[in-house]
Amino acid sequence: MRLWKRNFLIYVVFNFWFIVEAERNVTQNVTEMLPATTANPLRNMTSSLEDTSTGESRNGTTDEIGQQKNPLPKSCGIQNVTIKGRLMGGEPAKLGEFPWLARLMYKNNASNKIFGCSGFLISSKFVLTAAHCLESEGLGPVFEVHLGEHNTKTKVDCIEKNATCADKVKILRVNETIPHPSYNITSEDHHHDIGLIYLRKRVKMTLYVSPICLIDKLDFEPFEYWLSGWGKTKTENETSIKMKVSIPPYPHHNCTKKYSKLKVPMKIIDKQLCAGGQRNKDSCAGDSGGPLMLVVNGTRWFAAGVVSYGRRCGKEGWPAIYTNIMSYNDWIKNTMLKYQNQKEKFKVKYPVL
Ligand SMILES: *[C@@H]1O[C@H](CO)[C@@H](O)[C@H](O)[C@H]1NC(C)=O
Ligand SMILES: *[C@@H]1O[C@H](CO)[C@@H](O)[C@H](O)[C@H]1NC(C)=O
Ligand SMILES: *[C@@H]1O[C@H](CO)[C@@H](O)[C@H](O)[C@H]1NC(C)=O
Ligand SMILES: *[C@@H]1O[C@H](CO)[C@@H](O)[C@H](O)[C@H]1NC(C)=O
Ligand SMILES: *[C@@H]1O[C@H](CO)[C@@H](O)[C@H](O)[C@H]1NC(C)=O
Ligand SMILES: *[C@@H]1O[C@H](CO)[C@@H](O)[C@H](O)[C@H]1NC(C)=O
Ligand SMILES: *[C@@H]1O[C@H](CO)[C@@H](O)[C@H](O)[C@H]1NC(C)=O
Ligand SMILES: *[C@@H]1O[C@H](CO)[C@@H](O)[C@H](O)[C@H]1NC(C)=O
Ligand SMILES: *[C@@H]1O[C@H](CO)[C@@H](O)[C@H](O)[C@H]1NC(C)=O
Ligand SMILES: *[C@@H]1O[C@H](CO)[C@@H](O)[C@H](O)[C@H]1NC(C)=O
Ligand SMILES: *[C@@H]1O[C@H](CO)[C@@H](O)[C@H](O)[C@H]1NC(C)=O
Ligand SMILES: *[C@@H]1O[C@H](CO)[C@@H](O)[C@H](O)[C@H]1NC(C)=O
Repeated sequence: MRLWKRNFLIYVVFNFWFIVEAERNVTQNVTEMLPATTANPLRNMTSSLEDTSTGESRNGTTDEIGQQKNPLPKSCGIQNVTIKGRLMGGEPAKLGEFPWLARLMYKNNASNKIFGCSGFLISSKFVLTAAHCLESEGLGPVFEVHLGEHNTKTKVDCIEKNATCADKVKILRVNETIPHPSYNITSEDHHHDIGLIYLRKRVKMTLYVSPICLIDKLDFEPFEYWLSGWGKTKTENETSIKMKVSIPPYPHHNCTKKYSKLKVPMKIIDKQLCAGGQRNKDSCAGDSGGPLMLVVNGTRWFAAGVVSYGRRCGKEGWPAIYTNIMSYNDWIKNTMLKYQNQKEKFKVKYPVL
């Protein structure tokens, strides 16, 4: 039995498993029963989702957040697409939906650029992803970040022929990749599976490229999360079009219990989230580093988690594991401040939704 990271070494790049049936033989080691005491950190958060951007930096380069300007942009999580109704399975995303989604490209040993992981834009110079997408035995270092992609097979993506078209894909080079310092590449537990990509150049925001907000505090229990990526279908190994799917949260203590009963028990900590567990609706290989998203008031999008790993894909009763972004907000902000001292300003005018 083995746990699958949500990236696939080298060639296999598929995402959702919502069509392909995942028939597996579950062999649980029920002799290992850990007490299920861990509460879902999402459950009892109070406070609001208010934008916390504040004024000027008072003090050059300390690590103390709160004394400094919030490095996260004020304008985030907005897309020029209105979501209607609840999604029951995976379906193609609309043009311009999830404009923060990034494709992380690597070079294989033949120097071809290959897709291996996802990430998401959180400011004009930073992409958030999973640490194992930055330090991976199979993929090597991230070579490029592609933003504003929709259909990987077309140069220009349009809604219809000659109708509204998106801008060309933006290709960004990497200045530095910053895995979380506590991430242990050799540990099977994948704790602290989070990392930042510092881009060489600032990204210009458009309707098709813009940042998502990071969840800070939650005063409600989400009833659904969203995932998006480029996925596998029954007939194709990799869909060319960005897909999306909604998945339910999974109770943390049940999840902890479930993973602790595996032959090789996995320790799920509070800094991780569980979601999914419905048949054929899941994140899978290739989705690593992508966001586990929440929509607030139907209009504002927040990243709550980072796709980390799971036990196979799309298997009934088996939620996947996500790095809980709320546990790393300070690290993210402090790291961003360390790497940048410029102001984050967005010129794009967002439509009023
Ligand atoms: C599941 O595992 C058990 C025990 O290892 C084995 O006897 C059984 O044939 C397996 N079933 C399938 C469908 O592989
Ligand atoms: C279950 O785990 C225990 C303790 O790690 C081990 O002794 C036992 O052999 C395992 N059983 C199976 C069936 O893997
Ligand atoms: C959740 O918060 C409420 C109100 O603050 C409190 O009464 C309750 O005990 C908390 N529950 C848990 C599990 O912490
Ligand atoms: C910056 O902050 C540190 C720690 O809070 C403080 O010791 C230092 O005096 C501050 N420097 C300035 C220029 O405000
Ligand atoms: C190149 O990749 C192939 C397939 O992944 C692997 O078998 C081979 O050892 C690699 N060659 C080098 C020089 O890394
Ligand atoms: C689309 O535009 C091209 C040239 O811009 C034109 O030749 C073609 O007829 C147009 N097609 C439609 C369906 O309008
Ligand atoms: C990376 O960023 C630093 C600081 O912003 C800059 O000095 C350096 O030249 C950059 N390096 C590359 C390769 O872009
Ligand atoms: C990383 O994980 C490996 C395997 O679990 C362990 O042996 C090693 O001590 C860990 N390293 C650190 C720095 O914790
Ligand atoms: C999917 O990938 C597998 C393994 O690389 C290959 O054998 C198969 O032909 C591919 N299928 C399609 C439809 O491309
Ligand atoms: C979680 O576990 C509790 C008892 O431990 C059980 O009542 C509940 O149905 C479980 N929920 C799910 C979704 O498995
Ligand atoms: C959601 O709507 C409520 C009421 O209109 C508002 O107070 C709150 O700030 C909104 N939240 C976000 C994240 O936009
Ligand atoms: C938002 O999208 C619609 C089509 O979905 C388009 O007509 C409208 O111009 C867009 N708004 C902006 C500000 O581009």
